[in-house]
Amino acid sequence: MWHPSSAKRHPLPNALWPTAEEAARGRWFKPIRIARTTLAQRTWVPAMVPWRATEDGLVTDDVIAWYERFARGQPGAIVVEATGIRDVASGPLLRIGDDRFVPGLARLVEAVARASDGKTRLFIQLIDFLAVKRRPTKAKYFERFLKVEDRHREALAEATGESKWKRAAEPEVRAFLAAADDALHEDVLDERELESLRFGARERVTDLDLEHVRELPQTLPIQFAAAAARAKVAGFDGVELHYAHAYTMASLLSRLNTRTDGFGGVRENRVKIPLAVMRAVRHAVGNDYPVGVRFLGDEVIEGGNRIEDATWFALEFARAGFDFLSISKGGRFEDAKQPAVGAAVYPYTGPSGYECMPTVLSDEKGPFGRNVVLAAGIRRAVRDKGYDTPVVTAGGICTFEQAEQILARGDADIVAAARQSLADPDWFMKIRLGLGAQVRRCEFTNYCEGLDQMHKQVTCKLWDRVDRDEAGITKSSDGRRLVAPKWTAPEGGAAG
Ligand SMILES: Cc1cc2nc3c(=O)[nH]c(=O)nc-3n(C[C@H](O)[C@H](O)[C@H](O)COP(=O)(O)O)c2cc1C
Ligand code: SF4
Repeated sequence: MWHPSSAKRHPLPNALWPTAEEAARGRWFKPIRIARTTLAQRTWVPAMVPWRATEDGLVTDDVIAWYERFARGQPGAIVVEATGIRDVASGPLLRIGDDRFVPGLARLVEAVARASDGKTRLFIQLIDFLAVKRRPTKAKYFERFLKVEDRHREALAEATGESKWKRAAEPEVRAFLAAADDALHEDVLDERELESLRFGARERVTDLDLEHVRELPQTLPIQFAAAAARAKVAGFDGVELHYAHAYTMASLLSRLNTRTDGFGGVRENRVKIPLAVMRAVRHAVGNDYPVGVRFLGDEVIEGGNRIEDATWFALEFARAGFDFLSISKGGRFEDAKQPAVGAAVYPYTGPSGYECMPTVLSDEKGPFGRNVVLAAGIRRAVRDKGYDTPVVTAGGICTFEQAEQILARGDADIVAAARQSLADPDWFMKIRLGLGAQVRRCEFTNYCEGLDQMHKQVTCKLWDRVDRDEAGITKSSDGRRLVAPKWTAPEGGAAG
């Protein structure tokens, strides 16, 4: 596994851009069918959270401008960012947990159709997540959050050798612990309490003592189905169920899911809720409406799912009628770095996070197309069983040749690019027009991801290096351009 001490900086892969004729013959620009919908190309912009919704999760003009900008490059599909299925406050993340979110989302659908000239299909990623609290100060944790129990008093008495702690009043215990050092905390607190102190409290799918977690088998199918029905009403071309990274559905699929109520343990149990969610969604949207899934080819954490699990789940998903399988990797909380006090733990800071959005500082393999092997293994297994479900791959893809080779080898059916599309939303169009030399190439150093981590409006560092005096630029409060610089295709092409 990659480790910073073994990292070396990799140059961007050489790009021999095709002529317009070569591009037109390329596999990447050939159509593909997904259920009732046809993508005009196999180019794909996967979900990226830009932190542009209102505090109430509603679509804003900035959300619309963000997706319009991608749409002008006319990719085969864009997946709208992870959008919350519950009607709970979650800051400026998009939500779809109530009918009041539908008009804004419908406006977004119309804007993308207009900007892409009807060429781009628009999917929306539906997500459920459990509570993650910010890391508290030590004082606040012991004053407010720790539930003081007799076992703490016992442990305190043992650790200090003073039996008086066995009968100590709660405020005394709290004050003593607040002033104590790490070693004493380790003697007195259990593993979960230590984590809440050092990282912030984080709910897990295994917390069966919490009613809403216990009831996930009942609530998730209803909430996902209602959200998918709203997506259909809003006019989206399909939905992508988010079963990847650090969130509820991936945690249910994980080998670390040890629920004892029949929904944890062996794979057959872990997949029950994800399949029940799929059936409920299907029932809500009908057989011909595209319903895809994004899940992990490898969790990249100790004790987590490997490719064998992912392949097994992929077959279950294909059999259940998912219309595409989008393969991601890593991005888990379990190996994330400790956040600063006042910040929340971010699932892309550890080795599994690295694998999800690999940077040029890497091991021998480098970041480019690093995760394709997972999609390839899954696609092979799915095809061997007779399913033709399209497979989407992503991760460090930034040239036409990479995409062509992936498709030619049959490693995937659709090739997605997140950060390269962020750096240059026109890049698919430029390649198609034989203008690849004009592509603004992503540097894969993750400035954008750093902004996401701080819950700041996501932008690309390259956008602010050009045309700073362009008229009508919208900027973030700290002066960053919120939309990629304008690009105008020469005669006959589309304008960006
Ligand atoms: C700013 C940012 C936000 C992201 N948000 C999401 C998300 O909402 N859902 C998701 O499945 N992946 C998300 N991702 C991961 C990307 O979809 C993609 O899998 C990853 O960046 C690797 O692809 P790339 O090398 O082409 O960037 C995000 C990535 C970035 C950079
Ligand atoms: S900020 Fe960096 S990693 Fe992100 S899209 Fe721009 S160049 Fe790529």
